[in-house]
Amino acid sequence: MSARQRLGIGGVQNHPEQLISFYQEINAKGSLILSDKRVTSLRIIHFPDPRLRKRCAPVEHFDAELAALAARMLELMREDKGVGLAAPQVGINRRIFVCNVTGEPADDMVLANPELTDLTGDEIGEEGCLSIPDVHVQMRRAKECVLTARDLKGNPIRLKGVDLAARCWQHECDHLNGKLIIDHMSEADKIANRKQLKKLESDFKNK
Ligand code: NI
Repeated sequence: MSARQRLGIGGVQNHPEQLISFYQEINAKGSLILSDKRVTSLRIIHFPDPRLRKRCAPVEHFDAELAALAARMLELMREDKGVGLAAPQVGINRRIFVCNVTGEPADDMVLANPELTDLTGDEIGEEGCLSIPDVHVQMRRAKECVLTARDLKGNPIRLKGVDLAARCWQHECDHLNGKLIIDHMSEADKIANRKQLKKLESDFKNK
């Protein structure tokens, strides 16, 4: 999800301390892991790349490669000033996403095999997507939800999110099922984004 949402800061409750410390551990070893060429060559792919439309497979191995993938995704998310990035957005067909809704490094989160439950309330808000640059869509989302997932070690995580965190998790989980914000455009959104979507389509064709 793109950074404009940062304006509407929400909160992540019950943030797992162990996840933060594990990410710091990865960071400490980062230069070693990230020297893997396959990981450092990953880039954010753009609509209409068909890899964004696939349903992703569960993460099965919680190993150094997964940690390197997550570290690279966090790096790319930060470079593009995003608040969330899912693996299919770097061309990897696995159920994992990273997010950070505050911009504070300590709030980096990595969530594998996520499931959303207890979706309550609803709220319309503008969303962008790092794979669909300069496109903004008014999206109706649950205001609160519970996310269960695995951390990089495969340990279970259960978090409650409200506002921006809940919105971000719903957006990223959609990516893992091949869904994009442009699937939900109103007539007004279609008109406002038509030129930019055409540009992205022609950029992809001419790549
Ligand atoms: Ni997105």
